[in-house]
Amino acid sequence: MKPPAPAPFLSACRREPAEYTPVWVMRQAGRYMPEYRAIRARLGFLELCKNPEAAAEVTLLPVERLGVDAAIIFADILLPVEPMGVGLEFAKGEGPLIHRPVRTAADLNRLADVDPGEATPFVFEAIRKVCAALKERVPLIGFAGAPFTLASYLIEGGPSREYLHTKRLMHDDPATWHALMERLVKVTVGYVNGQIAAGAQAVQLFDSWVGTLSPDDYRECVLPHSRATIDGLTPGVPVIHFGTGTAGLLELMREAGGDVIGLDWRVDLGAAWKRVGYDVAVQGNLDPGLLLARPAEIRRAVRAILQRAGGRPGHIFNLGHGVLPETPVDHVGAMVDMVHEISVGGGLRPPSDSSPPELRGPSPRSNDPS
Ligand code: CP3
Repeated sequence: MKPPAPAPFLSACRREPAEYTPVWVMRQAGRYMPEYRAIRARLGFLELCKNPEAAAEVTLLPVERLGVDAAIIFADILLPVEPMGVGLEFAKGEGPLIHRPVRTAADLNRLADVDPGEATPFVFEAIRKVCAALKERVPLIGFAGAPFTLASYLIEGGPSREYLHTKRLMHDDPATWHALMERLVKVTVGYVNGQIAAGAQAVQLFDSWVGTLSPDDYRECVLPHSRATIDGLTPGVPVIHFGTGTAGLLELMREAGGDVIGLDWRVDLGAAWKRVGYDVAVQGNLDPGLLLARPAEIRRAVRAILQRAGGRPGHIFNLGHGVLPETPVDHVGAMVDMVHEISVGGGLRPPSDSSPPELRGPSPRSNDPS
């Protein structure tokens, strides 16, 4: 008997040909879904994350409703730092708050030394439940924050625009900066390897806010720690290395590691893939705002991205960042179907010249047979 074909998502992570371009959506289980809002009416966000039954149920929602090619465990990048004693709270409408920020060597020394493999048993339990329900039908992605993005929350105490406390620590007290980053590498490696042991078949490292840095600061203050994190992960499990606002950092992120480089929508996917090299896969990169537009416009944008990927094995379709709460669920489902339909059987050829398709010849809308 022939073994079953590998899941398209895992094939793409390994740059192997797949039946069609796999697609999933960052924040695919979230507030844009009425089913999610109903569960959140009963449970606080942290309560939900710590309830393996409910977290597993939420994880499976988009797989069933949208037909995405991967599930991502419902959890948060800040869960593994909560046991360090920083006072984590998810305040309504404000995002995460850290009540005892880490800004000095003394603050760092106060952090509890926790075993990340033991501190978040509820995440691992939720992963086991999801894997049992999915039975290899659809792969499950585990995830964690990359050290910089985690450090930025711990230092700022919450979301930030300018990252001034973070940059001050980085430049004025590099010893404390690097010591904090080393602590976070240890926590992240243990947290992710725990997820892999529980059954996650791929992992994504979210360096969501690293785009605030200059290339020199990234190289000096972040790259070695992101690399140590990726090098510490259980071998054989594909790693997606994602950030936003990273147009100036892509080569360096690639140098830090990962089998797949995540691209946001501010870069041209074809040009960015060429920059990071065809020996890695890429993920992205539809503007999340486009999902609020009419389906005909979504189709045009999906097509343009698939065309830039050129049918080359190793493209995972995704948004350039998380789905927005205002997004109609039907638009997300339609996008998933469009990606499958347009790419089936090897995808689109790359544009014949390097100019974007909308600048060439008759408009792709007018000659689009699909
Ligand atoms: O992708 C998924 O569906 C899995 C779930 C997931 C969540 N957080 C659930 C969540 C993932 C992958 C994350 C990662 C995460 N968390 C990141 C990196 C991804 C990114 O968006 O850049 C970051 C920076 C965080 C920290 C965090 N947690 C923020 C900034 C917020 C508030 C933002 C918001 O949308 O309100 C959270 C809360 C959070 N994490 C929510 C969800 C579904 C919203 C909570 C709610 O129900 O009110």
